[in-house]
Amino acid sequence: MHKKMISLLLAITLSSILLAGCGSTGQPTGAAESVPDTAGAGAEPEEGEAENVVVDPALENEVKVTSEEPYVMSGDQTYFIEDKELNNGYKMPVLGLGTYALTVEEAENSVYHALKDGYRLIDTARAYNNEEGVGRGIQRAIEEGLVTREEIFITTKVWDTDFGNAGSAFEDSLARLGLDYVDLVLLHHVPRPNDEEAYHELEEKVEEGKIRSLGLSNIYLDNDTFDRMYEAAEIKPVLVQNENHPFFQNTEFQEYIGQYGLFIESWYPLGGRGFTQNYFNDETLLGIAQAHDKTVAQILLRWHVQAGYITIPGSSNPDHIAENYDIFNFELSEEEMQTIKEMDTGHGNFNLRQ
Ligand SMILES: NC(=O)c1ccc[n+]([C@@H]2O[C@H](COP(=O)([O-])OP(=O)(O)OC[C@H]3O[C@@H](n4cnc5c(N)ncnc54)[C@H](OP(=O)(O)O)[C@@H]3O)[C@@H](O)[C@H]2O)c1
Repeated sequence: MHKKMISLLLAITLSSILLAGCGSTGQPTGAAESVPDTAGAGAEPEEGEAENVVVDPALENEVKVTSEEPYVMSGDQTYFIEDKELNNGYKMPVLGLGTYALTVEEAENSVYHALKDGYRLIDTARAYNNEEGVGRGIQRAIEEGLVTREEIFITTKVWDTDFGNAGSAFEDSLARLGLDYVDLVLLHHVPRPNDEEAYHELEEKVEEGKIRSLGLSNIYLDNDTFDRMYEAAEIKPVLVQNENHPFFQNTEFQEYIGQYGLFIESWYPLGGRGFTQNYFNDETLLGIAQAHDKTVAQILLRWHVQAGYITIPGSSNPDHIAENYDIFNFELSEEEMQTIKEMDTGHGNFNLRQ
């Protein structure tokens, strides 16, 4: 009983940190008419309501989250993981798995392990040449009863050279993934020639029910490009996926697009392949990690989530994948958040503006 009380208090504290209400991943709540409704959507209880805290002793020492059970158990504690509510009413997990640079086989294994560990968001792209592996990992997890299609949120991207034929490029991605629909499709880089046309072709796929949400990627404080794309869009984008980490923070752009209800989704959340040691050896971050008995990777990911970002660390290592998801049972203090905020250098590791 005592444990339950502690769990309840912690869950309520953590639930107030994150912005959106918790519930079925990828399900619209209060959605516009054009968004297909699905059973169970909009039925989530209010934030912090005691009914949301379900302590299932059978899950002790497991990490598990499903749309019906939006919580994680870690040791003897239960914690909420809150999804973001997108500006079209769909919900999106705040932490997912990135698959850049993974082979088809690595992608299959990483996706499978991630879904087994409780992840519900997976990010891939046509350009990563691994959509087939991502699809196989999803299929394995579904066949083993670990997840259902409705519980997971899959993102892919249309590469720049396909902007002249974005609709058919997307159909090819859909076939490689082996899915009936994709939750989020991004234009991989904007601005690029034909970007508005490409976006409109993807809007048609939304109308056909093959895509749920649209987004943009690689816009860095380029408000004109954002405004142009936003105004051209008949179906508004839900987020911008950008390089974003403590040394290169998207704070101003986050505020700018936040006015329209869009989120930043962080790529290179750990600094990116080849750059992670800059973080992992940083004395300040090591100190914060030690204070919480966490790794620097976990501190970084916790920072992304607490700063209001969605994030998708990439990994082909099952231990890292599990470690990266174990960030919902602690909280960075305001002072620690401020310390990390002050690490911003304004320079990215793969800054596409340069
Ligand atoms: N829209 C875009 O233009 C764009 C560009 C780049 C990336 N992305 C997306 O963003 C995702 C994230 O970016 P990223 O994967 O390039 O970089 P990242 O997540 O910052 O870093 C990935 C690197 O960190 C290592 N790593 C992960 N977890 C770790 C842990 N707990 N401890 C130690 N090392 C760890 C990985 O190695 P191991 O494999 O050994 O774990 C890998 O070398 C990509 O996978 C992709 O989905 C999008």
